[in-house]
Amino acid sequence: MVAKVIAVEDFDLVIFGGSGDLARRKILPALYRRRLAGQMPETARIIAAAHSSKSNEDFRSLVREALETFLDERHKDKALIEAFLEQCSYVQLDAFGDDGWKELQETLRDDVIRSFYFSVAPSLFAELSARLTSHSIATAQSRLVVEKPFGHDLPSAKALNAALSRCFDEAQIYRIDHYLGKETVQNLLALRFANVLFEPLWNSHYIDHVQITASEEIGVEGRGAYYDRSGAMRDMVQNHLMQLLCLTAMEAPASIAPNDIRNEKLKVISALEEVTAGQIVRGQYRGDSSRGSYLEDVGNETSRTESFIALKAHVGNWRWSGTPFYLRTGKRLRSRLTEIAIAFKEPPHNIFAGQTGSLAGNTLIIRLQPGEAIKLHVLIKEPGPGGIRLKEVPLDMTFAELNARDGVEVPDAYERLLMDVIRGDQTLFMRGDEVEAAWHWTDSVIAAWDEAGDIPRPYDSGSSGPEDALMLLHRDNRRWREIEND
Ligand code: BG6
Repeated sequence: MVAKVIAVEDFDLVIFGGSGDLARRKILPALYRRRLAGQMPETARIIAAAHSSKSNEDFRSLVREALETFLDERHKDKALIEAFLEQCSYVQLDAFGDDGWKELQETLRDDVIRSFYFSVAPSLFAELSARLTSHSIATAQSRLVVEKPFGHDLPSAKALNAALSRCFDEAQIYRIDHYLGKETVQNLLALRFANVLFEPLWNSHYIDHVQITASEEIGVEGRGAYYDRSGAMRDMVQNHLMQLLCLTAMEAPASIAPNDIRNEKLKVISALEEVTAGQIVRGQYRGDSSRGSYLEDVGNETSRTESFIALKAHVGNWRWSGTPFYLRTGKRLRSRLTEIAIAFKEPPHNIFAGQTGSLAGNTLIIRLQPGEAIKLHVLIKEPGPGGIRLKEVPLDMTFAELNARDGVEVPDAYERLLMDVIRGDQTLFMRGDEVEAAWHWTDSVIAAWDEAGDIPRPYDSGSSGPEDALMLLHRDNRRWREIEND
């Protein structure tokens, strides 16, 4: 059985910054793949809007090159690429003046969904949205997509929300966190709320702790200027890890309607307790024989920005009181691995005492990448004679195999999110108050290490991060899971 793809309605999508890095790497290939899957109508149009002078042909060459570079070979279909290029055009305009806006207005159709994608610096959000309104380009039905970083701290996030809300309703704004578009994230919702099995155990009575890891092998990769102003806390924890924590910790929403889910996520963020400096470990990667150090990569010998962070968070509510959430993310680590590990407590009484040491608690692993998987580690009796010896085995709910069997290809996060915008489904996007609450907590964490005068510890490229991060758990008689993509 091959999954059926339902085409979305016809649309005009204007990408501000449409010739930039994100558009080339992610947005344009994602749109092409949706066209390939039969979900994007052949009449839909993609209009890049930017300040540099380019013809439609120049832009199409750029799109062709982006597809050539970033598509998998198996997705390259010559005729379809040519047809897709015909759907792309370019408008030159001035974000700070009136040049080009009339041309953009004339390019757009009245009878299709109009979406605007701000793939530009947040400092342009206010100008662009004001001009979209003053030139009557944005209508009450239009949708606006904005990329992260959504602010640098709470005041700047509030200012961005205020600027956008002068021109758009909250129901029109789609704040992207691409982690929400990952297949496993939605599977986490299904696992928790479509099965009766886990929910009764999903609390501090049965769960010892939760580990959320987003480990990367790459360094800052030419994004040094941005990254050194952000660091791992702002770049990854405030948004991606926070979203994973929310979906793990939230109460059952009344339905999967966007606001039902977003209300529950907001409650989790609001319940996060303050983190003290002793519960945070920050690090910066050292160089190795072939690669520079963090300080060299960002060109700032005195930088105190972290390329690694581990911290212990608490969700202060009835369900989670006493169950820590350990978060960890960093660059230049041993492997690329993003996962949520739910570590259950040991059974209250060990009837196998004498035959085995202590019983390991069960662990549920929800792996986002590489290779989506859900595995429940359970203890079984080792086969064979000689009494009961226990052995840990993973019950594998890996769906890559299911997908292969059913002919389903898991779409990239951007594919799913872009189609959700056209469908008008905000479930996988962050609401303004959610982003502000996340910044409120993030700012308090940053203030805690600032007040303590914390300096990031160096760690080896290719390691699991600074030694002190191990201590964060050792002190609690726990261990991080290995950063391994088995
Ligand atoms: C981005 C961060 O939001 O997410 C990057 O800015 C990071 O620094 C990236 O590398 C990780 O995304 P993924 O999908 O590769 O885990």
